[in-house]
Amino acid sequence: MIMLQLDNIYSGYGKSVVLKDISIKVDKGEVIGLLGANGAGKTTLLKTIVGLLKPYSGKIIFNSVEITKLPPHKIARLGISLVPEGRKILPQLTVEENLLLGTFVGNENFESTLELIYNLFPILRERKKQIGSSLSGGEQQMLAIGRALMTNPKLLLLDEPSLGLSPKLVDEVFKLISKLKDEFSTTILIAEQNTKKTIDISTRLYFLKTGSIVLQGKKEDIEKSDLIKEVYLG
Ligand SMILES: Nc1ncnc2c1ncn2[C@@H]1O[C@H](COP(=O)(O)OP(=O)(O)OP(=O)(O)O)[C@@H](O)[C@H]1O
Ligand SMILES: [Mg+2]
Repeated sequence: MIMLQLDNIYSGYGKSVVLKDISIKVDKGEVIGLLGANGAGKTTLLKTIVGLLKPYSGKIIFNSVEITKLPPHKIARLGISLVPEGRKILPQLTVEENLLLGTFVGNENFESTLELIYNLFPILRERKKQIGSSLSGGEQQMLAIGRALMTNPKLLLLDEPSLGLSPKLVDEVFKLISKLKDEFSTTILIAEQNTKKTIDISTRLYFLKTGSIVLQGKKEDIEKSDLIKEVYLG
């Protein structure tokens, strides 16, 4: 079942067109990897999906509803949640306050969701009264993901979750993403520069280069592609 579909999307900032003719599909239950170098357009694509940027043309459909022109809060309420690049937790608030902020779009069962998130990230339970800024980078990333999960999203968008983390924490974040897929059946679209690890956890992938998709396919096909072997995996 198709959950998210982008048809021929052009998007960018004012006169600067970044995304050119992007068409992608995300089926329910998939983990889709969105790969590309600095400036390829990954963040622009995620911002366009959640309504922070209005596309110049093209269509975005989520669970059979056209969301192309909807404002961000309405798109959030339909069940799309973005964990932005650079985490952006509120450093002055406690861990628990940060998590509860995630419910602003509405979640009637927020207490049980909070419990679920604490079980998923025991470290956040331990630190729940601590202020956000006192967490390590990896813990802040967990908190940012936990906050996005507080809305019980149907689709979770992750913008470079491994950015700036130590190799050990990078492993933990990728393990967590696999767990979300396996145990919670969360559908995920993950933008990353960590090509190898993203290929490992994804069902299908898209490669962006200067705002266009230059390669797409199932994990097995992507691994075999010469482009990936040469350019991305070295
Ligand atoms: N607010 C903005 N105004 C104008 N141009 C922008 C703006 N934000 C990004 N861009 C440009 O859009 C292009 C794509 O940027 P984007 O942030 O989407 O790339 P990215 O793939 O997320 O890169 P990175 O991996 O470094 O985060 C770049 O050329 C960038 O300079
Ligand atoms: Mg980016």
